[in-house]
Amino acid sequence: MKKSQGEDHPKFRKNNGIFRSFRAILCLFLAVSLIAGCQNGAGQKGEPSILLGFSQIGSESAWRLGNTRDIEEQAENYGVSLMFENANQKQENQIAAIRRFIAYQVDVIAFSPIVEDGWDNVLLEAKEAGIPVILVDRDISTEQEGLTTCLIGADFYKEGLMAGEYLIRKADSLGLDHLNIVEITGTDNSTPMRQRQAGFADAIANDERMVILESIDGDFIKSRGEECMRSLLEKYGDEIDVVYSHNDEMTLGALPEIEKKGLIPGKDIIIISIDGGQDAIDVLKEGKINCVVECTPKLGKEVMETAIKLKAGEKVEGIIHPEEQVFSDEMNLSEIGPRGY
Ligand code: AHR
Repeated sequence: MKKSQGEDHPKFRKNNGIFRSFRAILCLFLAVSLIAGCQNGAGQKGEPSILLGFSQIGSESAWRLGNTRDIEEQAENYGVSLMFENANQKQENQIAAIRRFIAYQVDVIAFSPIVEDGWDNVLLEAKEAGIPVILVDRDISTEQEGLTTCLIGADFYKEGLMAGEYLIRKADSLGLDHLNIVEITGTDNSTPMRQRQAGFADAIANDERMVILESIDGDFIKSRGEECMRSLLEKYGDEIDVVYSHNDEMTLGALPEIEKKGLIPGKDIIIISIDGGQDAIDVLKEGKINCVVECTPKLGKEVMETAIKLKAGEKVEGIIHPEEQVFSDEMNLSEIGPRGY
């Protein structure tokens, strides 16, 4: 048997026994590490084994920025290689990104559809390429079977219900017998807009005290929240008793407009928001918002675990909804910890 050059060196010969033991320990250590790595599951840090294409809607809110950060951090944690594309609020950019993911032959595609309609063609292309698709945050509307594998995101209908239920409790506690409500909605034809509107409407449907004066599209954007509130105040003035806004960003845009009219948000007008980002929680603590229904952007862990299972050909759950809660003036607000988005 051929020896390596080093084996003839006197020093090596002298320590031959020690080296053999050292080599045995090293082999044992590597074997144990390998087994431990397998038990932790593929895709753990240091073992990038999967390429995930992720198309994000844009950067319209603190929620969205928190969601992007979480997806990136969790991809890193799970050793998933991420091809990330920001669509800047345009569906055509998302469709183009998905086509690029297909051309790159990524293992899994994940995306947050800005609106529900119009995805059939591109998702059929992904299906034909054999690439599984995860819906993140929002749903799509389609007649086609099997275009996506699962949905990881909030139960928006329940969020709307919780907002309406809070309002009923608030009206009871204040002894109010009539409330004029204005609703600032999220992006038209998006899942959170549709379901938050439906859940809220259903919650108050049998309460004759509640009247929705108008629903107006604020597109989930702060500047639109501002514009919407200004035009609602011009139209209805101090007839408005309640603002139900589909996200924090629009709420934070609306509040200064209310103050400019000499009205006190949280007192003269009941303010209900959705998301629960740090800025809105701070304003809730100041008393200018009455209720914030939580919608967590922290979906990255479930996305990575699901992508890893799909790559391994395993079955995944059809719908994953995170646990969410209501923050309001009914509770001890000092108990709310830092939000992280
Ligand atoms: O789809 C989730 C919604 O989108 C969040 O409530 C909103 O802030 C974001 O822009």
